[in-house]
Amino acid sequence: MKVTLSKNPKNKPDVSSLGFGKYFTDHMLVMDYIGGKWADPEIVPYAPFSLDPSTCVLHYGQGIFEGLKAYKNEKGEVTMFRPRDNFIRMNKGATRMCMPNFDIDLVMAALKELLKIDESWIPSAPGTSLYIRPTLIAKDEMLGVHPSHDYRFFIILSPVGAYYSTGLKPTKILVEEEYVRAPLGGTGEVKCMGNYAASLLAGDLARRRGFEQVLWLDAKERKYAEEVGAMNIFFVIDGVVKTPALVGSILAGITRDSVIKLLKYEGIPVEETRISVEELSDAYKNGKLNEVFGSGTAAVISPVGVLGMHGKEYIINNFEMGRITSLLYDRLTGIQCGREKDIFNWVTAIN
Ligand code: PLP
Ligand code: COI
Repeated sequence: MKVTLSKNPKNKPDVSSLGFGKYFTDHMLVMDYIGGKWADPEIVPYAPFSLDPSTCVLHYGQGIFEGLKAYKNEKGEVTMFRPRDNFIRMNKGATRMCMPNFDIDLVMAALKELLKIDESWIPSAPGTSLYIRPTLIAKDEMLGVHPSHDYRFFIILSPVGAYYSTGLKPTKILVEEEYVRAPLGGTGEVKCMGNYAASLLAGDLARRRGFEQVLWLDAKERKYAEEVGAMNIFFVIDGVVKTPALVGSILAGITRDSVIKLLKYEGIPVEETRISVEELSDAYKNGKLNEVFGSGTAAVISPVGVLGMHGKEYIINNFEMGRITSLLYDRLTGIQCGREKDIFNWVTAIN
């Protein structure tokens, strides 16, 4: 693989100022799809791309992305969490968006090289990691609405801390009763750019009302919980952990899947089902809505302290991280950071 090293390595940010997705490492991976086939991947210095103003992705949003993380564990080893699952999901998404699939083994090998080159950027303080953002964009220069012929795949890396500025403090989530994220038959289960663009207005309105994100409801009846802006959602109702079933409009989160497997392993009852807003407010009124939390690569396991529903604020578990949420946070981050045994074979070392 061709590697061009940066001649101007950047200063690294202080670990306390990381936040999420603000800093980028010295190198990136680029792989173009031209004339019906993939060129070899290349590692190049991190730098802006030049795109013709007519480039497809800029107009019609034919683009998808992924999010996964690399960690430096206590032994100094660099590992990734379930990377193959992200690339499998990305290829499925590519098919839905009329984009070409790529060779997962080739991309995994190239990513490992990239991580070795930028290894000094991987933070090791608790709660920090290196966020990996693979992206695939349509590159044809034309204004007709049809699938592009040429594409660019790239991976950039960003040292990160907590996704929410509140850190591990519970978040406030507003149940969104007007706007919807994705109808059945749409692209809800794909990590395509347009889903996120379409979500911005509701998120912005919610933030002005003091909430961090919105909880989307199903597009047909506006009745059943689906997911949050950047994470899947779980409700602990009377000791049973419930999460919306994957009906096609929800992203099949890799953290969600990990949470379900961890719960089963711990012997805690878990159900993938339909959860209506009525069920949530009834459970709350009966004192049975024990905990609410989100799961995601960026969000990890994120406690929800307030659900805004029907114009009221429902305070969950005294605005504290609950027992099951804490257990899952410890187990998941323990496996990710190498503190706990990798019983599910989720961790991939880069060497
Ligand atoms: N739902 C949405 C809309 C997301 O953007 C994400 C983040 O990737 C998730 C759920 C969680 O998915 P994962 O656990 O694979 O990161
Ligand atoms: C992720 O968790 O990887 C996400 O993609 C969430 C968000 C930053 C879009």
